[in-house]
Amino acid sequence: MDVRVVLLILATTITATGSQKIYASRNPLAVGSSVTLFSQDIVTTGTWIFHNNLIVFIVPDNAIIADSWKDRVTFNSTSSSLTITSVKLEDSGEYTLTAINTFTAKLTLSVQVPISNVSLTASNTDLVEFNDTAVLTCSVLNGTSLSYVWMKGSSEVAAGAGVQLSDGGATLTMVGVTRYDEGSYRCNVSNGVSDAISPPVHLNINYGPSNTTMTITPMRSAYITGSNITLSCSAESKPPAGVQWMFNGVKLNHFGPELQLEMVAENKSGNYKCILHNTVTSRFTSKSGMIRILTPIVAVVVNPTGGPPILHEQYMLHCEVTGYVGNIQWSRNGQPITADNTSVIDMTNRTLLLKPVQLSDNGDYRCEASSPVSNMTSHPYTVEVN
Ligand SMILES: *[C@@H]1O[C@H](CO)[C@@H](O)[C@H](O)[C@H]1NC(C)=O
Ligand SMILES: *[C@@H]1O[C@H](CO)[C@@H](O)[C@H](O)[C@H]1NC(C)=O
Ligand SMILES: *[C@@H]1O[C@H](CO)[C@@H](O)[C@H](O)[C@H]1NC(C)=O
Ligand SMILES: *[C@@H]1O[C@H](CO)[C@@H](O)[C@H](O)[C@H]1NC(C)=O
Ligand SMILES: *[C@@H]1O[C@H](CO)[C@@H](O)[C@H](O)[C@H]1NC(C)=O
Ligand SMILES: *[C@@H]1O[C@H](CO)[C@@H](O)[C@H](O)[C@H]1NC(C)=O
Ligand SMILES: *[C@@H]1O[C@H](CO)[C@@H](O)[C@H](O)[C@H]1NC(C)=O
Ligand SMILES: *[C@@H]1O[C@H](CO)[C@@H](O)[C@H](O)[C@H]1NC(C)=O
Ligand SMILES: *[C@@H]1O[C@H](CO)[C@@H](O)[C@H](O)[C@H]1NC(C)=O
Ligand SMILES: *[C@@H]1O[C@H](CO)[C@@H](O)[C@H](O)[C@H]1NC(C)=O
Ligand SMILES: *[C@@H]1O[C@H](CO)[C@@H](O)[C@H](O)[C@H]1NC(C)=O
Repeated sequence: MDVRVVLLILATTITATGSQKIYASRNPLAVGSSVTLFSQDIVTTGTWIFHNNLIVFIVPDNAIIADSWKDRVTFNSTSSSLTITSVKLEDSGEYTLTAINTFTAKLTLSVQVPISNVSLTASNTDLVEFNDTAVLTCSVLNGTSLSYVWMKGSSEVAAGAGVQLSDGGATLTMVGVTRYDEGSYRCNVSNGVSDAISPPVHLNINYGPSNTTMTITPMRSAYITGSNITLSCSAESKPPAGVQWMFNGVKLNHFGPELQLEMVAENKSGNYKCILHNTVTSRFTSKSGMIRILTPIVAVVVNPTGGPPILHEQYMLHCEVTGYVGNIQWSRNGQPITADNTSVIDMTNRTLLLKPVQLSDNGDYRCEASSPVSNMTSHPYTVEVN
């Protein structure tokens, strides 16, 4: 029967489009496979049509299969089902079953090519944090209706800040990569009939130095001469940063994360600085710290300066210290002396001025010198007011 005749019949006889449904044995399905389209209801007079292309014209007790489908299609009159073998990509589309005067039902069939040979390529796998953009491209040798899922390790990569998906998901672009983007990436490609995952591509992200810290051991506000001091600098850096040291603005011929100061002399006091350099990222950082080295107090002696102590006159005692002095404390008979209108304490020249001398000034005078690293008290010096 001529298709045009059938279409003419259809055009004049379709009266209702019911809620009847048709089902496929498989959908989507792979090219080359077979599919059967089933109807819920038996059709005695009607058609199976693909797009505008007649496949079967159904008449009671008979069915006429169009020539172009004959070698690939079988029709089961008992169930009104249509079986297509060796499906091709072009068989994708809308299939319509019409029971004349009763119903029309539609089904969209999707024929897909199974995915094979998924590969992943990266524009560059050795990247610099913040500066570089990673572009990963996923490709397949064969496959249709592809959808892509990007994996970093075992977790899925989602599009978001700095992460863009394009080409329908086949390209992953990470603008301004960070150290946290380091890892093994794969793309999982799937369609309705298969899925396949690419071999991994490892992105190496170079970063830093950042979070630079200087540690000084032992940690003290000041060090006694002869101390051993270790300074060390570290930072988050990949590859590890090289370290150079400076002392009071002068570069030392010392490289490496640690600087050992052994048996330090006073002239090692000053500003220590470490400069960290990552040769791949071309970035520098530095950190500095002050080291104070003080000589210990080794001798404290109280001496009078000027004449003897005469009542109502002035009298001066001097505290002579060998070593670094931070503070001086005078005492009389073990009692600390505080400055008042008759006792003047001068810290700069370490003198105690009694002005005027009173009888109550009799006693044993001591001077205690202290510094952050040591302290020492003199022998007593006895004052007897004349
Ligand atoms: C046609 O369909 C009926 C009902 O599903 C089934 O029993 C029968 O075996 C089918 N005939 C053929 C030739 O496949
Ligand atoms: C596809 O994969 C198969 C099996 O791994 C391999 O033999 C074939 O060479 C690959 N083809 C291409 C074009 O890469
Ligand atoms: C890829 O598809 C072509 C035709 O679509 C086919 O000839 C070829 O064998 C397929 N290759 C693989 C590896 O599936
Ligand atoms: C790839 O994705 C498919 C579909 O989402 C999933 O079934 C499959 O498990 C995934 N494969 C891997 C290795 O994650
Ligand atoms: C390192 O520095 C970053 C910022 O540069 C900061 O967010 C992070 O908390 C720091 N980490 C540590 C351990 O200090
Ligand atoms: C400092 O280091 C030197 C040499 O390693 C060692 O001989 C000395 O005992 C150390 N001094 C102290 C106070 O640890
Ligand atoms: C620092 O002091 C030590 C010991 O007092 C001395 O040997 C050395 O020459 C001094 N170094 C400098 C640069 O003055
Ligand atoms: C990174 O970017 C900054 C600013 O654009 C540039 O100055 C620097 O040279 C770049 N570093 C590298 C390693 O490309
Ligand atoms: C100052 O000296 C006078 C006489 O010696 C004494 O009476 C007075 O208490 C002193 N004042 C203070 C604040 O020490
Ligand atoms: C110490 O200082 C006091 C007051 O500042 C001054 O009167 C005295 O002469 C000084 N003594 C010496 C030894 O410099
Ligand atoms: C003085 O030195 C002794 C012993 O080193 C210490 O016990 C004391 O606390 C020190 N006193 C001061 C004021 O530094």
